[in-house]
Amino acid sequence: MEAATSYSQKADPPAHIAIIMDGNGRWAKARGLPRIAGHQKGAEVVRETVTHCRELGVACLTLYAFSSENWKRPTAEVDDLMGLLRLYLRRDLIELSRAGVRMRFIGDLRGLPADVIDPLYEAERRTRDNSDLVLTVALNYGGRNEIVQAARKLAEAAAAGRLQVQEIDEQLFASHLDTAGIPDPDLMIRTSGEQRMSNFLLWQSAYTEMVFIPVLWPDFRKSHLEEAIHEFHRRDRRYGASSG
Ligand code: FPP
Repeated sequence: MEAATSYSQKADPPAHIAIIMDGNGRWAKARGLPRIAGHQKGAEVVRETVTHCRELGVACLTLYAFSSENWKRPTAEVDDLMGLLRLYLRRDLIELSRAGVRMRFIGDLRGLPADVIDPLYEAERRTRDNSDLVLTVALNYGGRNEIVQAARKLAEAAAAGRLQVQEIDEQLFASHLDTAGIPDPDLMIRTSGEQRMSNFLLWQSAYTEMVFIPVLWPDFRKSHLEEAIHEFHRRDRRYGASSG
């Protein structure tokens, strides 16, 4: 990958960036620290990344913070992650709101602890009129489950006679996903060297450019974000058409 010095000044950034923030545990382990220390540092990097995205003019940022499979982790780690999320919302909501950030949460939110759900809805309510950056955080999220839930809603509507089966098309289907109203991601970044989707935005990423940055999430800096954007601009997005 070429160096991307000041690349952001040369081309428009992708409108929507999605990030699989991976490697907090390995970062902590390498320092002989508990995993929560990696998540704490990871949460700081989330704050910085939101700022960088605003500076670069990115319109939407979507972060994979907790997958529906993450419940398999030890209870103490899950509790720590939920605590971190509560802290983040309590501490940063006013700043995010003032910075023109609109917050949205996707995933099966009903499966989260009650003391996490209320601050989430509060954050959505307080920032709903902001439009500088839409920050979507995926919590208890699984792409397959999101698709199944959308299929269920459509099947129920059809069974109740409110919808003709022939009316179901891609647009209608997408409008029943958690991400309704948010454009599909242009660029998906995964840190840590792993190269898979891990059930993130499966429907929405049909034509998303994937860029894998081989640093652990707590080490992710603005230069890495710019490097990923630079790589994105080098790609030839054809959406299935020929190269001409
Ligand atoms: C992946 O690292 C990271 C997570 C599962 C959690 C991401 C959470 C944060 C960055 C902090 C809280 C988020 C917000 C929005 C405030 P891992 O634990 O899977 O790392 P490993 O693969 O090295 O074990």
